[in-house]
Amino acid sequence: MSKGERANFGSKLGVILASAGSAVGLGNIWRFPYETGNHGGAAFILIYLLCVLILGMPIMISEFIIGRHSRANTARAYEVLAPKTQWKWVGFMGVLAGFLILSYYSVVAGWTLEYVIEAGADGFAKKGPEDFINAFQSFSQDPFRPVLWLVLFLLMTHFIIVKGVKNGIEKSSKIMMPLLLVIIFVLVGCSLSLPGAEKGLEFLLKPDFSKVDSNVFLGALGQAFFSLSLGMGCLCTYASYFSKETNLGKTALSVGVLDTVIAILAGLIIFPAAFSVGIKPDAGPSLIFITLPNVFQQAFSGAPVLAYIFSLMFYILLAVAALTSTISMHEVVTAYLHEEFKISRNKAAGLVTGGCIFLGIFASLSLGIAKDYTAFSLGIFDLLDFVTAKIMLPLGGLLIAIFTGWYLDKKVVWEEISNGGKLKVRYFKLFIFILKYIAPVAISLIFVNELGLI
Ligand code: PFF
Repeated sequence: MSKGERANFGSKLGVILASAGSAVGLGNIWRFPYETGNHGGAAFILIYLLCVLILGMPIMISEFIIGRHSRANTARAYEVLAPKTQWKWVGFMGVLAGFLILSYYSVVAGWTLEYVIEAGADGFAKKGPEDFINAFQSFSQDPFRPVLWLVLFLLMTHFIIVKGVKNGIEKSSKIMMPLLLVIIFVLVGCSLSLPGAEKGLEFLLKPDFSKVDSNVFLGALGQAFFSLSLGMGCLCTYASYFSKETNLGKTALSVGVLDTVIAILAGLIIFPAAFSVGIKPDAGPSLIFITLPNVFQQAFSGAPVLAYIFSLMFYILLAVAALTSTISMHEVVTAYLHEEFKISRNKAAGLVTGGCIFLGIFASLSLGIAKDYTAFSLGIFDLLDFVTAKIMLPLGGLLIAIFTGWYLDKKVVWEEISNGGKLKVRYFKLFIFILKYIAPVAISLIFVNELGLI
């Protein structure tokens, strides 16, 4: 496809909101709290923040540079910038990671729809923590209902994708992101007002370094990449739709700050609430689905109408946040199939949706009737999460850093980051230094450490 034909985002705000829409999702509100819970709380958050700042930001800018300069899907981008080299595998790995993440992510996204319906039918009223734990267990292990929601969620994603970049992706993000922020702030207030909320705050803010082991570093690194949508060419694909005027550094900063603030706010909602009702913070993937219904019931025990309205709004927005992320993953794979195999966009999208439904069904069943089928003692759902978030994304990030820091012509990097010399970029030297040395060494060390080699 030639330069002129390629779609573009229509406005600066659209660029930021669509990229932030990709970044902000279940990773912030579902995965971040349970990873924090599993890894001991505040110390994990501190390492996470370092990963975002030192590794996440420079790698995000690199993905933007690669995407906007090549104006191609993520696999083709490396062909354009490094023709006839092996770099193309970084792009292929990204497309594969996008497909794999979308498959199991949609399972959880589907759960949010069940909770929207449950909240809408006032199904949380007058229930307590035990009821919510039992309800979640029987639902997530059911062989049919989660699968139906999974299919529906992927079809919704499909529908927006076939509408295209400007009307589908940009328009939906502009409405949904601001709404999400507002409701999150209200919920933080509710959660902090619960009796015994201080313990949750302490867990979140007071680091206990005795809990830090090698696992924590890979956990934090994987979470940072997952949450920022990095390492698989997602933001690279979005950047191929950026205009020449988009300020890449500023956009990365806005997305990074928004994503991190929302993750911390999610922690401020979940942990005070969990401690308040005595739910352990290491409850894993079920954490938000059992603690949150409680928050609404308890915080508004005197005003059931408010409990109803807020729980319904929360799950709708969670579904929406998940949707802006599934759209971005779907786009990576759809753009690749559409542009590389010369099939129509609709057909490409259909293939992606069908493939993800197929794999997603196995992922969903692995939490219930198929839980005994394991590899490396992980079911398909957990295996997909582990392989993508803890191996493919950090590896992708490592290679992207090396590509931009060592391989790519610095003139190209400068031209993109400064918009052809129009912007002052004081951090350029530091940026290159991090990509060349800090990021490769840090990510490699974390890998080697996790594998037990040192
Ligand atoms: N960043 C998304 C989230 O936090 O929910 C998940 C995600 C989207 C991961 C896009 C990777 C990706 F390419």
